[in-house]
Amino acid sequence: MSRPRGVFVAGTDTGVGKTLIAAALTLALKEEGVDVGVMKPLESGGLRFEGTLIPRDAYHLKEVSGVDDPLELINPYCFEPPLAPAEAAAREGVEVDLGRVFKAYEELASRHEVMVVEGVGGLLVPICEGTLLPELIKALGLPVLLVGRTALGTINHTLLSLSCCQREGIEVIGFLLNKVSPDSDPSEESNPSWISRFSKVPYLGTFPYLGELGAITEAKAFLQPLFTEHIDLGRIFDLLGLSRGRTS
Ligand SMILES: Nc1ncnc2c1ncn2[C@@H]1O[C@H](COP(=O)(O)OP(=O)(O)O)[C@@H](O)[C@H]1O
Ligand SMILES: [Mg+2]
Repeated sequence: MSRPRGVFVAGTDTGVGKTLIAAALTLALKEEGVDVGVMKPLESGGLRFEGTLIPRDAYHLKEVSGVDDPLELINPYCFEPPLAPAEAAAREGVEVDLGRVFKAYEELASRHEVMVVEGVGGLLVPICEGTLLPELIKALGLPVLLVGRTALGTINHTLLSLSCCQREGIEVIGFLLNKVSPDSDPSEESNPSWISRFSKVPYLGTFPYLGELGAITEAKAFLQPLFTEHIDLGRIFDLLGLSRGRTS
């Protein structure tokens, strides 16, 4: 089987840290000498600034990765309402053409060795009329890296998301938990092992809380070392069929 062309960073929900983890993974791959491209195919909740709609996640991924690809390829569709893309597009009277997304992806994938693609919301989010996110993941042919919260409730959300991938025939590289809040609860320590016991997917580690962040770009200096320290990067490299420690 040919090696996957990248990773699809999916979440158990919105706000779980997909953008932050996608950025950290990108930097960790780059640190090992891999040429990484980034993509956020569909984004809603874009920021209106002086008449222009800015896709924040795509912008942050571009900034952090340092790629010189145009934002229009990194993010073919951005909507202003902070809603599921299908609903946001309908409200703006836009018809989403997934062909445009694939074309942009193919162009970026041809420029880079590995693609890091960020999802939108959780897994079963409508991305356009009659289509949920897993259709896009399957069409891109990328394995999923699943990001969940560390807190109480994550066993249910993570196992549901993993069973969705399994049902859809989507390969999963592994799951990791991200501590998005300073609050702790007594479930945190044992959550990874409960999830592991009920799924056949590797647990890749827990990404620590970084304090109150204004923007992900603020944390750029810490992302790579923390990712490499806390997350099983070796497994990600193995699944991508890459060797570590190269120079670019
Ligand atoms: N480990 C972390 N430590 C501190 N803040 C975090 C962490 N992970 C995410 N955040 C913050 O939580 C919010 C949601 O993260 P984000 O990556 O945008 O989630 P998603 O892409 O899943 O919607 C952002 O404000 C981000 O800066
Ligand atoms: Mg995001």
